[in-house]
Amino acid sequence: MESSWLETRWARPLYLAFAFCLALGLLQAIKLYLRRLRLLRDLCPFPAPPTHWFYGHQKLLQDGKIEKLEELVEKYPCAFPYWVGPFQAFFYIYDPDYAKTFLGRTDPKSKYLYKFLIPCLGNGLVNLEGSKWFQHRCLLTPGFNVNILKSYIKVMAHSVNTMLGKWEKICGTQDTVVEVFEHINLMTLDVLMKCAFSQETNCQISSNHDLYVKTTFEASKINFYRLYSFLHHHDIIFKFSPQGHRLQELVKILHQYTEKVIQDRKKLLKDEKKHGNTQKRKDQDYLDIILSAQAENGNSFSDTDLRSEVNTFILAGHDTMAGSISWLLYHLALNPEHQERCRQEIRGILRDRSSITWDQLGEMSYTTMCIKESLRLAPPIPSISRELSKPITFPDGRSLPAGITVVLSIWGLHHNSAIWENPKVFDPLRFSQENSDQRHTHSFLPFSAGPRNCIGQHFAMVKLKVAIALILLHFKVSPDPTRPLVFLHQIVLKPKNGVHLHLKKLP
Ligand code: HEM
Repeated sequence: MESSWLETRWARPLYLAFAFCLALGLLQAIKLYLRRLRLLRDLCPFPAPPTHWFYGHQKLLQDGKIEKLEELVEKYPCAFPYWVGPFQAFFYIYDPDYAKTFLGRTDPKSKYLYKFLIPCLGNGLVNLEGSKWFQHRCLLTPGFNVNILKSYIKVMAHSVNTMLGKWEKICGTQDTVVEVFEHINLMTLDVLMKCAFSQETNCQISSNHDLYVKTTFEASKINFYRLYSFLHHHDIIFKFSPQGHRLQELVKILHQYTEKVIQDRKKLLKDEKKHGNTQKRKDQDYLDIILSAQAENGNSFSDTDLRSEVNTFILAGHDTMAGSISWLLYHLALNPEHQERCRQEIRGILRDRSSITWDQLGEMSYTTMCIKESLRLAPPIPSISRELSKPITFPDGRSLPAGITVVLSIWGLHHNSAIWENPKVFDPLRFSQENSDQRHTHSFLPFSAGPRNCIGQHFAMVKLKVAIALILLHFKVSPDPTRPLVFLHQIVLKPKNGVHLHLKKLP
C-alpha cells in the first residue's frame, strides 16, 4: 500500500517547523498577556474612561475630535490612561505640576509617535536622542540668535505683503469670504525657504509648490491615523497597508523637494568657489550653518544628517507657523473688540506703515497678549510624548514605572478649568504681567519647556507679530458664520475644512 504524505520522509521536518511556529506564537501571546497584566497593575491608581477589551479607547480620539478630550480632562483630574488596543496604553497628563515633573527629566521621545515621523523627517533634531541630539542642538542654536532674527524681519514683511497683494486682488474694495489657511500656508513656506535657506521660491505666486503643501497635509494625516491604530504600529503590517503604501509615495515627494534645496545651495557654493568668491556670507542662514558643520565635522555630520535636519526644519517650521497665524486671525475675527485694540496699538507704533523694526515688535504688548491667548486656545502642537526611562513619582505621590509612554496634552493643559477660568473664552488679559506672575510656571506651554523646548520659538513669535501687524493694518477680518473653524487634532493642529474669513480692505 502507498504511504500517505504524512508518513513521507519530509513530513518530520514539517511537523517540527509547525510545532516551532506554534510554540513561538504561544510564547508571544503569553508575553503580550503578561504585558497587559503589568500595564493594568501599573495604571490602576489612575481611573480610566470605560474601555473596550480589544480596541481599548482607540475610537475616542482617533477621529481627531477635540471635544472628547476636553470632556476627559474635565472628568479625570491630572491624568488618565488611554488604551490603544489590548496591549498598549498611553498615559495622558494635563496638570501643571505633572507637566513640571515630566519636563524636568530627560526621558527619550516616545517610540510610537516619533518613530512614525522618521520616514518624513529622518533623524533630525526632533527625533534625535542623547549626545548626537546635544551636538546638533548646540550647532544649530546660533541660527536663531537675535542678530539673525533681526535680519529676518524685512524678509518676513516682504512675504506677508505678497500675500496681502493677493488678497487685495481677490477682494478689491468688496467684503469677500476667503479661505485664508491655504494662502497663509504658502506664505509661511515662502518665509521659511527665504530665511532658513535663502531660497527665492516664489511659491506664493507660482503653483509649483502646492504639491509640497498638500503632501505634508496628507502625510501628517496618515501618521496620526497610525498612532491610534495599534495594528498599524507594526512596521511590516503598516508597510503593506494602503496607508503605508501611500505614505511611501508622499515621502518621495517630500524628499525630492528637500534634495533640490540642498543641491541648489551646493551648486551655488561651488560656483562661488569657482569664481573666487569664497568670502563667508554676511548673514549665515540655517543651511550655511549646517553645511559648515558638515565641512568641519564631516565624520560626525553625514549627508543623511544634513538631509534630516533640512527636512525637520521645513516641516517643523512651516506647518506650525501656518496654523498659529491662521488661528490668531480667526480668534481676532471672532472678537472684533480685541482686533480693533490690536489695530490701534499697531497703528500707534508703525506710524508711516512702511517698515517694521525689532524695537517696534517689542512695543506691541496688547498684540502679544492676543498672540499668547490664541496659542493657549489652539496650541499648534497639541501634545508631545516621551517613554519613561526610569520610574516617575508625581507631586501627589502617585507613581509610574519605566517603559510607560506619557503624553503631555498641551491642549488639555491649556483648557484645564482647574487653571483657566472659563477656558473657552478668548481673554488676552490672562497674559497681563500681573496675571501671568500669579500662574503656575507650567500652565502655558505652547513651545514646551526644558532642554527639548522649541528651538524656533523666538523666530515664531517674531513672525506672528510681523504677520498680524501687517494684516490688521490693511484688512478687517470677520468670521463666516456658515463655515465655523473645526480643528482636527493631529500631530500638528489642522483645520478640517479650511479657515474661511470675511476680508474687508481698509482705506
Ligand atoms: C507657533 C509655532 C511653533 C510651535 C507652537 C512649536 C512648538 C514646538 C513644540 C511643542 C516642540 C517640542 C516637541 C517635543 O517635545 O516633541 C517643538 C520642538 C521643535 N521645534 Fe517648534 N514650534 C513652532 C515653530 C517652530 C519653528 C518656526 C521652527 C523652526 C524654524 C521649529 C523647530 C522645532 C524643532 C527643530 C524642534 C525640536 C527641538 C529639539 O528637540 O531639540 N518650531 N516645537
